[in-house]
Amino acid sequence: MKVLVTGGVGYIGSHTSIELLAAGHEVCIVDDLSNGKIEVIERINRLSNQSLSFIKLDIRDRTSLERTLSKLQPDAVIHFAGLKSVNESILKPLEYYENNVYGSMQLFKIMSDFDVKNIIFSSSATVYGEPLTLPLKESMQTGIPTNPYGMSKLMVENILDDIYKGDNSWSIVRLRYFNPVGAHPSGLIGEDPKGIPSNLMPFICQVASGERKELKIFGSDYDTTDGYCIRDFIHVSDLAKGHLSALDKCLKHGSNDIYNVGTGQGISVFELVKTFEEVNNLALNYSVTKRRHGDVAACFADVEKIKNELKWEARYDTRKMCLDAWRWQTSNPQGY
Ligand code: NAD
Ligand code: WQD
Repeated sequence: MKVLVTGGVGYIGSHTSIELLAAGHEVCIVDDLSNGKIEVIERINRLSNQSLSFIKLDIRDRTSLERTLSKLQPDAVIHFAGLKSVNESILKPLEYYENNVYGSMQLFKIMSDFDVKNIIFSSSATVYGEPLTLPLKESMQTGIPTNPYGMSKLMVENILDDIYKGDNSWSIVRLRYFNPVGAHPSGLIGEDPKGIPSNLMPFICQVASGERKELKIFGSDYDTTDGYCIRDFIHVSDLAKGHLSALDKCLKHGSNDIYNVGTGQGISVFELVKTFEEVNNLALNYSVTKRRHGDVAACFADVEKIKNELKWEARYDTRKMCLDAWRWQTSNPQGY
């Protein structure tokens, strides 16, 4: 199948493109390189021993996107492109709504014009807001996201739902990712954050490499088993493979569905830190500081729906996530 991958140069899109190519799909990436480097394309090609097509464009550029869709006529679109920093979204809400919401609307409109109606959308566990009960199930009411990033994801989910209600020839899969971490086992592809990382795993890696002095663990007084926050960390290669199962459903059976993509296991921040030290045989410089505003105590997925309906489940454990994240960091100390 021919798959258009928006934002495919980024962290999750690059890993997914490798899996798509390995499964025999034809891949075209569009990305404006606002948070990615062109080197990624060469590495995907090297790893897959194939040559994918890449077009540098901003999905908000209507003319370029129309030209691409009309020329390519893809069977499906996997839509990763967007901005993803919670903190930045609080400072720059308009940029987030413009890119994530308007950009997505533009993409959906042009897809409709060219009769491309199969889409997988990258959503986030953040749409659940503060969990009332755990594990989080797709059937639960979504919460009220406390930041523009989360709100933009919920808005796009709702727009897709409305599109389907108006025209059920669309096939839509919304994937709610939990906490993607790790890197491709080759060490060639990984997460390359700009500036100071706000996510835990890239911060751990930069402390381990000596680039940053100390990891601050935000809070040890949560109402959890060890007092630290609990998250559902998922290896990015597992997450990437989840998109193949979603694509299958989207193309073969028609769909307007939502799936959690996580391991279903809650791991505490402290457990992750300790596992990273153990498997990589090093000591991390860390201290415990006060809670970070906006953090929920615990967040992990119920993964029964994706297991039963898409026959997908995560294979890699926390040890593998830590090993692969560190391999990526040590092989690429300055990123790409
Ligand atoms: P990323 O920033 O690494 O990748 C996004 C890519 O989109 C980048 O390469 C960027 O250059 C590109 N892009 C941004 N705006 C664009 C535009 N207007 N036109 C074209 N390209 C554009 O992010 P990621 O971690 O790979 O996340 C991918 C998707 O998954 C995002 O939509 C994100 O919100 C979502 N998501 C990520 C996480 C996470 O923890 N990484 C969790 C849940 C959901
Ligand atoms: C994980 C845990 C922190 C950094 C965010 C978004 C979510 C999704 C994934 C996009 C928390 C703790 C972190 C540090 C720490 N992204 N931490 N010290 O906040 O669960 O989720 O990324 O959709 O929408 O909200 O991920 O990696 O930032 O934090 O102690 O330096 O690590 O308090 O408990 P989070 P994270």
